[in-house]
Amino acid sequence: MTQRAILLTGATGFIGSHLVRRLIGDGWRVHVVVRAESSRVLLDGLGDDVCFHVHDGTTEGMIKIVKDAAPVAVFHLASLFLAQHTAGDVTRLMRSNVEFPAQLLEAMAVNDVRMLINTGTSWQHFRNLEYNPVCLYAATKQAFDAILRFYVDNNAFKAITLKLFDTYGPGDPRPKLVNLFQRAAVSGAALAMSPGEQLIDLVYIDDVVDAFMVAFARLQAGLVEALEEYGISSEAPLPLKEVAATYARVSACPLNIDWGARAYRPREVMQPWTAFERLPGWHPKVDLASGFARCL
Ligand SMILES: NC(=O)c1ccc[n+]([C@@H]2O[C@H](COP(=O)([O-])OP(=O)(O)OC[C@H]3O[C@@H](n4cnc5c(N)ncnc54)[C@H](OP(=O)(O)O)[C@@H]3O)[C@@H](O)[C@H]2O)c1
Repeated sequence: MTQRAILLTGATGFIGSHLVRRLIGDGWRVHVVVRAESSRVLLDGLGDDVCFHVHDGTTEGMIKIVKDAAPVAVFHLASLFLAQHTAGDVTRLMRSNVEFPAQLLEAMAVNDVRMLINTGTSWQHFRNLEYNPVCLYAATKQAFDAILRFYVDNNAFKAITLKLFDTYGPGDPRPKLVNLFQRAAVSGAALAMSPGEQLIDLVYIDDVVDAFMVAFARLQAGLVEALEEYGISSEAPLPLKEVAATYARVSACPLNIDWGARAYRPREVMQPWTAFERLPGWHPKVDLASGFARCL
């Protein structure tokens, strides 16, 4: 029997590479859309379990990829993340976060593929507002949401957008909090940070992957009428200072942090978004101390 196929974007990234492994483990044939320059290092060792499709940047190229992969559903995770942008970033933000996924939706429509799991961010909801992106990155996610709504209405897509908070886990190459702590713990060097009162909502990678699988099951079960959106939160955000203290306790390495040596960012998220709907059937299982222990 031919194995049923899934198509993923962002598979070479931190979350995508974990999701690929889970899908393979669950018996799916996994197709991934990559760029010619994509590093495949996080997918090392998967061999023939993954079918790579190099996107040439065109809509026609994307239509051919979706046709060749013939997926049951698409998981869209590819994104350029920039907390703050400069003038030189505008084009690549639009390219990665609006144009590329719009090509994907058109290719799905042309090939009659209608199930999508999309990835948004809690940063679309600064100060807990329905429309208030924290930064241009979050605004591009919001712009793509508007495009997705059109395809959902016009092409009867069934879609779920998972709006993620912060994520962490072993083997994370991103220059994020846990890596900063890890490096500071090893080197003993002073780490310059903001005053550290902002609440941080960290979800462990296995819980994040579970959320994608629960959303997929919901689509497969025919429970989604059109477009649904859920926040994937730990529901236990902590001030950054407490996150650092937890890391130091679990790793048994004191962190030399110079609190207040850096200013808060403009539009720093002090209180994460709380006005989200919970994904039915999903809740985070790994608390922060256990998650940090798994990272060490
Ligand atoms: N991680 C978090 O804490 C967090 C929070 C909120 C939302 N999210 C969302 O979760 C998703 C996955 O995040 P992540 O942290 O795993 O990302 P990541 O590690 O930074 O990886 C980004 C992925 O997107 C791909 N990509 C970027 N631009 C592309 C383009 N123009 N064409 C094709 N592929 C492109 C990258 O491919 P290359 O290998 O070619 O660069 C890579 O596979 C993203 O949508 C992100 O916005 C994450």
